[in-house]
Amino acid sequence: MSKDKLIVFDTTMRDGEQSPGASMTKDEKLRIARQLERMRVDVIEAGFPAASDGDFDAVKAVAGIVKDSTVCGLARANENDVRRCGEAVRGARSPRVHTFIATSPIHMEKKLRMEPSQVIAQAVQAVKWAREYTDNVEFSPEDAGRSDIDFLCRILEEVIRAGATTINVPDTVGYTLPEYFGALIRKLRERIPNSDQAVWSVHCHNDLGLAVANSLSAVLNGARQVECTINGLGERAGNASLEEIVMAVRTRQDVFPCDTNIDATQIVPASRLVSGITGFTVQPNKAIVGANAFAHEAGIHQDGVLKSRDTYEIMRAQDVGWVTNKLVLGKHSGRNAFKARLTELGIVLPSEEALNAAFKRFKDLADKKHEIFDEDLQALISEEESEHLDSEHFHLVSLTAHSETGELPFAKIVVSEAGKEKLAQATGSGPVDASFKAIESIVDSGAELLLYSVNNITSGTDSQGEVTVRLSKDGRIVNGLGADTDIVVASAKAYINALNKLHSKLERLNPQV
Ligand code: KIV
Ligand code: ZN
Repeated sequence: MSKDKLIVFDTTMRDGEQSPGASMTKDEKLRIARQLERMRVDVIEAGFPAASDGDFDAVKAVAGIVKDSTVCGLARANENDVRRCGEAVRGARSPRVHTFIATSPIHMEKKLRMEPSQVIAQAVQAVKWAREYTDNVEFSPEDAGRSDIDFLCRILEEVIRAGATTINVPDTVGYTLPEYFGALIRKLRERIPNSDQAVWSVHCHNDLGLAVANSLSAVLNGARQVECTINGLGERAGNASLEEIVMAVRTRQDVFPCDTNIDATQIVPASRLVSGITGFTVQPNKAIVGANAFAHEAGIHQDGVLKSRDTYEIMRAQDVGWVTNKLVLGKHSGRNAFKARLTELGIVLPSEEALNAAFKRFKDLADKKHEIFDEDLQALISEEESEHLDSEHFHLVSLTAHSETGELPFAKIVVSEAGKEKLAQATGSGPVDASFKAIESIVDSGAELLLYSVNNITSGTDSQGEVTVRLSKDGRIVNGLGADTDIVVASAKAYINALNKLHSKLERLNPQV
């Protein structure tokens, strides 16, 4: 018996982007879009076009390059939003407009200040506007998880009649439980007379850690589209994680009556790309994409795995893309080999100049680290693009850090600001702390440090450390990234990268703020 298709709708670049500090630039969105397409994601939600001209351009640009996936934009249920969205996606080979309005009593009363009948009328009108641009229209009753089921039946029947082809049921605040949510989807499908004229979709947030469980329960009850993000990125505790949903459905084909089209070997590269661009690192014990997800430490497990893999492994690491950790390039690799590998990784640099700059960076790294892996290349390109995009107002010229047992750690740093070199030195509780203090004594940014984290990009003590620094100033939150075989240098680079982002006028937006 042939199985149904489960449509994978990725909202990393829309809902995921709403996490504080995860906002992306247009070029970053294009890189992510290419990777999502390579992974065979069915629908890519690229942004919220009415939120700003920058997001409009980004969605339009994604619509212009993606060939195989549907490109979708989000719009509130008002004429301006829907028309902006329609304009942004209309150039796509397969465009979709996704419009939404809240339906829970608390949202209708306190946020919208609208009567339920007005909400229905607005939703129906929004779907009709959207249909002027495309016949692929999705409607979401926001906060459906806390909405009254009778009201949901009324509004959803009406929007399907108005032309919505996908009905997406969001658990906006991550409140529902798997059994309840699955039953909700089943009841809506059973009770709404025209429910068979739409694809049923779900969109779950992870506030109680149940986003994936709720989504899977919905799939078992007839949902055939799941909205999710790479690494579970998203507001607050995030969205349902794409990799967990895809692999749960694939691994438990004995239970699920459907499967996705996803090329799972692209999952780990996608995870790396998104964490590199957003600065949201992946916890080591994260399912599927965490560094330890396939590591068998305990002796008893190792013994079993050596005798027969399936004693303890339910999936194979290489099936989700954990094969990239192979030597790809080295000190003697030439520019062509470098360019070819970038192309294989889906990285297209905008100009010869950018390629030359990245190649120089690669050569510098190859001098310090003999084996260069795909992960190193991804980090190198993220760093290069980030510096290029944010037009390096501040630049790290040199750094000396000293630490010795029994002595106060100390750092001496030269930073150029708008081309003018400045030197400072400071002591701190460690060399990183001392370096940050020295930088601050030069730039005096007044920014608040919200997060500092270090990850090794590949394994081994010669691996590059990838540092994320999250800074906040005047309500803006940015993530800076830096990579180097010396983690003090990586930290200083990350701090300066974050300062450049704060300084830059480049549009990095967080649509719902
Ligand atoms: O969480 C939510 O309700 C949303 C909708 C706009 C789908 O993101
Ligand atoms: Zn959401």
